[in-house]
Amino acid sequence: MLQRVKALFGKTSVPQSQIPESDNIPQHIAIIMDGNGRWAKSRGLPRMAGHHSGMKTVKRITMAANRLGVKYLTLYAFSTENWKRPKAEVEFLMKLPQEFLSIELKDLMENNVQVRMMGYRGDLPSHTLQAVEEAIERTAGNTGLVLNFALNYGSRKEMIEAVRSISEAVAEGKLDPSDINESHMEEHLLTAGLPDPDLLIRTSGELRLSNFMLWQLAYSEMWFTDVYWPEFTEAHFHEAVRVYQMRARRYGGV
Ligand code: FPP
Repeated sequence: MLQRVKALFGKTSVPQSQIPESDNIPQHIAIIMDGNGRWAKSRGLPRMAGHHSGMKTVKRITMAANRLGVKYLTLYAFSTENWKRPKAEVEFLMKLPQEFLSIELKDLMENNVQVRMMGYRGDLPSHTLQAVEEAIERTAGNTGLVLNFALNYGSRKEMIEAVRSISEAVAEGKLDPSDINESHMEEHLLTAGLPDPDLLIRTSGELRLSNFMLWQLAYSEMWFTDVYWPEFTEAHFHEAVRVYQMRARRYGGV
């Protein structure tokens, strides 16, 4: 029991530097990158410095995931609720994808990483969207890790939109309500075509989902750590994967 509680909070007895077994790597890892603000505050820095440092962690963990053979890495970069933050912070966050891609796109190409985005494009500033769309286009032929940015993403909105589309099909007589099944929902979610995450990581000690992939995380393993996102290293990432490898996934069975 104690071991399970420790594993939940990310403090396990697995040695820090050990590389995970190569035969049970999670295919899809989703991360709630939290703690940028607190990391900055603890150093007497402005919140933006935390986000900027968090951007460097994005690169570090993308490369770590690619090296490990993870197929999909979904990163929660901006939620549909994050618009409530002060204007200057929102503007700063909206510049990060552009800055990140202008620095890292070359490296992402060389490492065969494919960039994707899930979220509501209409509300994004044009400079943000343009940078992301360009990266998506340029990396479309890459066959390595899929780096999926959740940008202006919210799970409840995603589910409402899916229900709306399904309802339209019903109203048009194309679908009988009694035939609606999980596949219909999945086809209309922003993750259509992507497998569900095997592992969810959240940094900074918060133990909640914050409107992130509520449908898709139904059977995901979860790993939480107190470490703030800017200080999250490849060793922490390996630790999360090794804890995942110790879990028995039962999907409601025995
Ligand atoms: C939550 O931490 C973090 C965010 C809302 C933004 C996450 C963005 C990045 C890590 C950079 C993204 C980079 C790219 C390339 C898109 P918080 O600010 O809420 O932290 P706090 O809870 O300590 O205040």
